[in-house]
Amino acid sequence: MTTPAATATGPAARTDEGAPLSALAPTAAAGALGECLNIADLREAARRRLPRGVFEFFDRGSEDEASLHGNREAFRKIKLRNRVLVDVSRRTQATTLFGKPMSMPLAIAPTGVAGVCWYEGEVELARAAARAGVPFTLATPSVTSIEKIAAVEGGRKWFQLYMWRERELSYDLVRRAKDAGFEALMLTVDTAVPPIREYNRRNAFSVPFQPNPRILADIAMHPRWLLGVALRYYMNGGLPTLAHYPKGASGRTAAPRGVSVPNLRGDDLTWDDVKRLRDMWKGPLMIKGVHLAEDAARAAAEGCDAIVISNHGGRNLDSAVAPIQVLPEIAAEVGGKIEILLDSGVRRGGDVVKALALGATAVLSGRPTLYGLSVAGEAGALHALSLLRKEIETTMGFTGCASVADISPRTVWME
Ligand SMILES: Cc1cc2nc3c(=O)[nH]c(=O)nc-3n(C[C@H](O)[C@H](O)[C@H](O)COP(=O)(O)O)c2cc1C
Repeated sequence: MTTPAATATGPAARTDEGAPLSALAPTAAAGALGECLNIADLREAARRRLPRGVFEFFDRGSEDEASLHGNREAFRKIKLRNRVLVDVSRRTQATTLFGKPMSMPLAIAPTGVAGVCWYEGEVELARAAARAGVPFTLATPSVTSIEKIAAVEGGRKWFQLYMWRERELSYDLVRRAKDAGFEALMLTVDTAVPPIREYNRRNAFSVPFQPNPRILADIAMHPRWLLGVALRYYMNGGLPTLAHYPKGASGRTAAPRGVSVPNLRGDDLTWDDVKRLRDMWKGPLMIKGVHLAEDAARAAAEGCDAIVISNHGGRNLDSAVAPIQVLPEIAAEVGGKIEILLDSGVRRGGDVVKALALGATAVLSGRPTLYGLSVAGEAGALHALSLLRKEIETTMGFTGCASVADISPRTVWME
């Protein structure tokens, strides 16, 4: 189902328009970004810039963080093999998904608080994605509206849906995404209940933002964020709120705070909801948060176009299986019938190649692009994509893969 684009882009990291990504970073941000040679560097730069409450909110996992760390361990355990004496002088990682081109096998994952990392962060992420030639997914709990993202020039736009018990409220979002011309719908199904994240309570951090002495002291110690994000919002109409949530509702998927909305809980979601959505949404429909081959098979049987194997980046169920561990059995079940995407723990281009080797069409980037965004907005997110792109290309060179079609189970070695 995946077909490499006909033209090779050559070894340099390039956008879909052909410009080297490094050339797109504004000069002011180039200094800080220039020192970030990998995603771990971007993470460290983001940690220094953001208030602790904000940084931990998006960087950490749930409970004992076994899922969070397990995601990285699982990638490390998979080894790559050189394939030698193959002409890889014209490598291309361009590919297609849902019949449309993407410059690399990656899309930006839905991340609810992007607008807290950077002023109008979701707009900046969408712009970075458009310039890099990869799809961008807008999350239901975002501070930027569907319509505002639709106005961002170019790019492929996907909408992530959390289904609420008040179904009509969710259907309204689906209709808005359709009217705004979004290409695809991604239904997240792994958040039936609110996860346990103790550090948010310790940091007194919540979404929507609730001022309190602890978080205000935290913010005061991070003047770049205070001036560049909080103050800019304040000067332009006040602190951001969740654009798609009814008035009075909290940001947690399953926790109504106001009385104006009777019940936003989504813990009664079933395959009947998928059927209904399939009827409503004619474009590509993805189910995010799948771990079981039988669930993947059911998604295919219900007419979904893709599944995202994900443990929410280790933020929901703790001790969850790492998506890369279950990818082979899911690919054996539904590979060739439905597109398989994967996220959670991708931090190097080699991880992307491993996922493709085991049956994924593409991966989603959650934190890597958020780290970049937190450091330098659009330019920072582009930098994260550029780093991953370069690493994918390097790994493809070593493993003898001139195109994504050459990446196969033989590319990896597993115990
Ligand atoms: C701060 C943050 C917010 C997120 N918000 C959402 C969300 O609103 N909806 C959703 O489906 N997934 C959400 N996710 C999960 C991501 O879509 C994705 O599954 C995860 O980040 C992938 O793991 P990675 O961060 O290791 O790349 C969020 C992740 C983070 C880090």
